[in-house]
Amino acid sequence: MLFKHENFEKNSIFLVVGILIVIAIGGIIEISPLFYLQNTIEKVKGMRPYTPLELAGRNIFIREGCYLCHSQMIRSTRDEVERYGHYSLAAESMYDHPFQWGSERTGPDLARVGKKYSDSWHQEHMHDPRAVVPESVMPGYPFLAKNDLDYRMIGADLLANQRVGVPYTDEEIKYAAADLKAQLDEDSDGYDAFIKRYPGAQVRDFDGNPKKISELDAVIAYLQMLGTLVDFSIYNDAENDR
Ligand code: HEC
Repeated sequence: MLFKHENFEKNSIFLVVGILIVIAIGGIIEISPLFYLQNTIEKVKGMRPYTPLELAGRNIFIREGCYLCHSQMIRSTRDEVERYGHYSLAAESMYDHPFQWGSERTGPDLARVGKKYSDSWHQEHMHDPRAVVPESVMPGYPFLAKNDLDYRMIGADLLANQRVGVPYTDEEIKYAAADLKAQLDEDSDGYDAFIKRYPGAQVRDFDGNPKKISELDAVIAYLQMLGTLVDFSIYNDAENDR
């Protein structure tokens, strides 16, 4: 049997084909279980799909190219964890289509920026970053507060997400526009139904102007939610117990 190995060593095409076959076996063994395992992404308590308003904010985040300067992916190295908080879990981007991990940080990581600042800080910062952070190189986005949020397609947007696996119910799709408005006003008629569909969602007027549903409302609702869904005190305790 061994002397046949000579054939491989003397014929480079044989050798290349042989190498490819051997590597493919290793690759298949590593990769194929991921398609069959029920829990390739470990389930994490607290994760829910975006509310329609948050999803609209996320769309603006993508439209404006915020991801070119901001990552949403905290690595498990000590410096990152001390600066930004618990490292990102796979489940935290399981409803992201496309995910917003980013590839460059001109500004800080935003994976856990939710509730770090007040809404009014964000309002000022988005209007003119240097008003609150004098050395900032971030561009201002003053038009977000002026632009009415266009949410005519929000139901279709939820539907598209449902098609690629986000567990939106048909009811959530049907009432997407109503839910979007309800998140901006605790006293609105739609509030009870909204909060039942998205328990724990933050409800208020985000842009400081209750008379208008602006793009800024959506962006701040999105930013204030980032990284707040999973209660990490549970996970940190579990790690300490080990
Ligand atoms: C040219 C690069 C650049 C772009 C584009 C950019 N930012 Fe920033 N961003 C920065 C820098 C630099 C900082 C840090 C200084 C500061 O706070 O302004 C920052 C800070 C922030 C912070 C505060 C983060 C923290 O933890 O202190 C938020 C929130 C933010 N950006 C949101 C956005 C959003 C939303 C967009 C898109 C609408 C955006 N940024 C686009 C560079 C950028």
